[in-house]
Amino acid sequence: MGYVIGVDLGTSAVKVMLVDRVGHVIEEVSNEYPLYQEKAGFSEQDPEDWVRETITALKELTCRINDPERIEGMSFSGQMHGLVLLDNDNEPLRRAILWNDTRTTEECREIEEKVGIDVLHQITKNPALEGFTLPKLIWVKKNEPTVFEKASTFLLPKDYVRYRLTGEVHMEFSDAAGTLMLNVPEKKWSKEMCEQTGIPVDLCPTLVASHEKVGTVKPDIAESCGLNNDVAVFAGGADNACGAIGSGILEDGVTLSSTGTSGVILAYEDDGDKDFSGRVHYFNHGEESAFYTMGVTLAAGYSLRWFKKTFAEERSFEELTELANQSPPGANGLLFTPYIVGERTPHADADVRGSFIGMNATHTLGDFVRAVIEGITFSLNESVEIFRENGKSVNKVISIGGGAKSSLWLQIQADIYNADVVKLKSEQGPGMGAAMLAAYGLGWYSSLKECADHFVEESELFKPIPENVSVYKELFELYQQVYPQTKAINKRLKKFR
Ligand code: XUL
Repeated sequence: MGYVIGVDLGTSAVKVMLVDRVGHVIEEVSNEYPLYQEKAGFSEQDPEDWVRETITALKELTCRINDPERIEGMSFSGQMHGLVLLDNDNEPLRRAILWNDTRTTEECREIEEKVGIDVLHQITKNPALEGFTLPKLIWVKKNEPTVFEKASTFLLPKDYVRYRLTGEVHMEFSDAAGTLMLNVPEKKWSKEMCEQTGIPVDLCPTLVASHEKVGTVKPDIAESCGLNNDVAVFAGGADNACGAIGSGILEDGVTLSSTGTSGVILAYEDDGDKDFSGRVHYFNHGEESAFYTMGVTLAAGYSLRWFKKTFAEERSFEELTELANQSPPGANGLLFTPYIVGERTPHADADVRGSFIGMNATHTLGDFVRAVIEGITFSLNESVEIFRENGKSVNKVISIGGGAKSSLWLQIQADIYNADVVKLKSEQGPGMGAAMLAAYGLGWYSSLKECADHFVEESELFKPIPENVSVYKELFELYQQVYPQTKAINKRLKKFR
């Protein structure tokens, strides 16, 4: 039986998964790499770290199995938006500037002014946000002109790693949608966006579909990783598009809740031209001619990791969630807003910062952990509410990522979203979605939907508990008041950061 590999290039680590023809996960390896945060708001990674750790993980994966010759294909899921600027020899000109880097507020306002907000929404379907790639290109052009002069093209993180493995330079639609340079409904680079903002359109690489074969693994790399020479490489997708594929979000009606470093609420769209006026992100799906809408919480899993590292480093996540389980819904009156690196949906505000509200001398570590988990989920619920206000019904939510590893967090999601929440057999949506793109690309299945019928398996259902739903309904109203009431304070605090 053949195998495929899904490579998920995340923000904290790369995960590689070996999956068989019917979607069983045979092996998984994960390797971490550093994040460079030299100034408040800056977030960068070294593309060489991604390549080295991906190759090391692939070697480890093939070492762990007896039959690596059965691996037939590979594809990628990647953290979105990160700018990898390349020179004429396709060498990176600087570190990659990541999706959670918020240095580009000025450039976002400049884009809105030059292009006009209506035209921006019409072409890109999205607002100008600090995390997207175009503002980063403009920032480099302004602040590092000698670097920019040498630029010949740019790639997104997983496209760069794929280039290093195959020698072929491409970008695919689901990730290109997050650059703010793609005409999303028409699926082509937008000359207008580039010209109006002073970025040469010829920096934009060739576009391909997510399931398209773009090459094979280069012989020297294949040999060092213990792979056959003819392992087919498929383009892959943005991590959120792959998360959707890996969770079977391939038709309207089911919503995705994903908690990685960031958190997203995502819904399938078959129409690329609905008008959400930039309130949510609107991107091309990894399934051809489909789209998805999405709200983003910048620091989801990141908030919990930050809390653990800062206040309870010696405790495991399991211990912390066990303590949180002893605190009641509402964490004994403690509210947390997860704006520790700014926010995206519904408050596109790079300057806002998080708060604990209602701290009391009797609060325990368990109350704090519970408040953090609830605060992240309240933030995601803001996106659920936007979807509902726009006529989408959110009754069934598939939950993936870190938040799907804990029964407590899954129940909190069901209670706050007031919807059925489903846990899948594998919560690794993006890696699974990448593996599915390879399986579909290889022709194992006639459609991604057919592949999902084999690969995606539901394992547990969490139903909303009515008493908790009403507690959270009231608390959500209070949560929503924290942003407007702390916005001005946070603006003034900025100079002290
Ligand atoms: C989406 C976004 C994040 C990253 C995380 O717009 O910025 O979800 O894709 O990897």
